[in-house]
Amino acid sequence: MRVLGIETSCDETGIAVFDPARGLLAHALHSQVDMHATYGGVVPELASRDHIRRIIPLIRKVLDQARLQPADLDGIAYTAGPGLIGALLVGAAVGRSLAYAWGIPAVGVHHMEAHLLAPMLEDPAPAFPFLALLVSGGHTLLVKVSGFGDYEVLGESQDDAAGEAFDKTAKLLGLGYPGGPVLSALAERGRSGRFQLPRPMTERPGLDFSFSGLKTSVVNLVKSEAGDDQTRADIARAFVEAVVDTLVIKCRRAMEEFGLLTLVAAGGVSANRQLRQSLGEMVREAGGRVFYPRPEFCTDNGAMIAYAGYLHLREGETQPLSFEAWPRWPLVSEA
Ligand code: KG4
Ligand code: ZN
Repeated sequence: MRVLGIETSCDETGIAVFDPARGLLAHALHSQVDMHATYGGVVPELASRDHIRRIIPLIRKVLDQARLQPADLDGIAYTAGPGLIGALLVGAAVGRSLAYAWGIPAVGVHHMEAHLLAPMLEDPAPAFPFLALLVSGGHTLLVKVSGFGDYEVLGESQDDAAGEAFDKTAKLLGLGYPGGPVLSALAERGRSGRFQLPRPMTERPGLDFSFSGLKTSVVNLVKSEAGDDQTRADIARAFVEAVVDTLVIKCRRAMEEFGLLTLVAAGGVSANRQLRQSLGEMVREAGGRVFYPRPEFCTDNGAMIAYAGYLHLREGETQPLSFEAWPRWPLVSEA
């Protein structure tokens, strides 16, 4: 069963084909980062228009790369949410229409479920059950994953997502968009211990997160300290250490509480070098193992959508010809 995956939830058009017998056959991505950078963040209307421009040529490119004809495909998966509604609708409309024209089923995939499953495209892949730390630009979630489709959300951010905190803090420090990679590069040059920032919500029990207060602490530091390069790097260092420590503390707590030895980290922030190092140390001490997607599949991509879609289609899931997209869509619907 070969599945074409389409990702258009935010500022990346991602297309891929997954084949369970042969793995990932091809994948391609068009990032809109340069276009949005001028505005310091994603402009939703521009994002939708760019997806419209890119999506068909990118699908052609991926099919060519994989040496496939439409007739070789058995299904289409597209991101149905959460994300920017206009952007989501582009992928959903194209995915559904092509599936109708080609006479194959289509399925709408949850973006965060796809992030969560992305490490399973790697070798070795994690085995169920595992704890998933999902850290993206829009969400921060701790999920107990007992099997495909069997998810329990243990904790989530009460305000800003981890990636959002990186992006906003980067902006405060005068760095470009997206902030994650530049901010962590700046932090590498910073000195540990010059500034102390809080580890929000780690003192009390529970597995939820809150990152918006850190931003306020950074605002105060930026105001009170001289703005030379080393100081900015030291502030960046303190910020990254605070976020990383907080995430690691909550992961350790969840692994202990739920008796899980396998940790999966996914979503854009899981590409972060400092986070990977600290999670690695914590998990080693706990006698467990940590799994990540390859760096290019930490951020948004079509491969994870093709793979998650394949799992849904394999279960025989069908959806009506009409389609919807959901800008807000909880990973686990409330009973
Ligand atoms: O998963 P993703 O591509 O998109 C969403 O689903 O939101 O995540 C994007 C987020 C952005 O906030 C970006 O700044 C952050 O991931 N990010 C990073 C790194 N690479 C991307 N944050 C910290 N360190 C990185 N290396
Ligand atoms: Zn994402």
